[in-house]
Amino acid sequence: MITAYDYSFARIFDAAGIDVILVGDSASNVMAGHETTLPITLDQMIYHASSVVRGVNRALVVVDLPFGSYQSNSKEALASAIRIMKETGAHAIKCEGGEEILESVKRILAAGIPVIGHLGLTPQSIYKFGTYTVRAREEAEAEKLKRDAVLLEEAGCSAIVLEKIPANLAKIVAQTLQIPIIGIGAGRYCDGQVLVMHDLLGINTEFQPRFLRRYLRLHEEISEAIRQYIHDVKSSDFPNEQEQY
Ligand code: KIV
Ligand code: NA
Repeated sequence: MITAYDYSFARIFDAAGIDVILVGDSASNVMAGHETTLPITLDQMIYHASSVVRGVNRALVVVDLPFGSYQSNSKEALASAIRIMKETGAHAIKCEGGEEILESVKRILAAGIPVIGHLGLTPQSIYKFGTYTVRAREEAEAEKLKRDAVLLEEAGCSAIVLEKIPANLAKIVAQTLQIPIIGIGAGRYCDGQVLVMHDLLGINTEFQPRFLRRYLRLHEEISEAIRQYIHDVKSSDFPNEQEQY
């Protein structure tokens, strides 16, 4: 699984054979430049998601319910999920939390909308945590995470994303549950992995957590290309005879 937020990248990822494309609320960070995921709106998520869906032929497209669009009550949660399904053509929604949002998860599922859970370091709760460090190292939080995972599976969720928790805890969850466990910073025992496209492609240079493997150095590649373009225009090398009408 990889994130995407627009048509052009979604098209490349889909054609390359990715199984699942997540239209993450990380768009708030990597697309809009916000410090957290909290500011992004449902309308903005729908814009990103509908663009992604137009680029996809075969992958499953999952869309994050943004902060504030599902926490108030299950009726609001269902209304938000329905808007995503109707207005984007995506296949499933993802939302953060376990027991706290269980009623909403059940109501969305009852409407026939597939739900993916998200436990561990849930960025919409960053001001509760106060830090982006590894979650569920302590017994009490680990036990709650295991209970929440079972509740989400029993409710009928299709999969669960586990973010930034100890590998051995993710292993227990993956062994206990039947549904796919998709990790980000949750170690090698998960059934699948997810990364933010800007991190995987090396577009971000500041963000370097241990769990991140970079497959490209796009920041450097793009910078060099832009420097070359500036040079070529200023030196009257571009456009040349063959590049004009
Ligand atoms: O918004 C996002 O990109 C996510 C992934 C990191 C799982 O939720
Ligand atoms: Na997210």
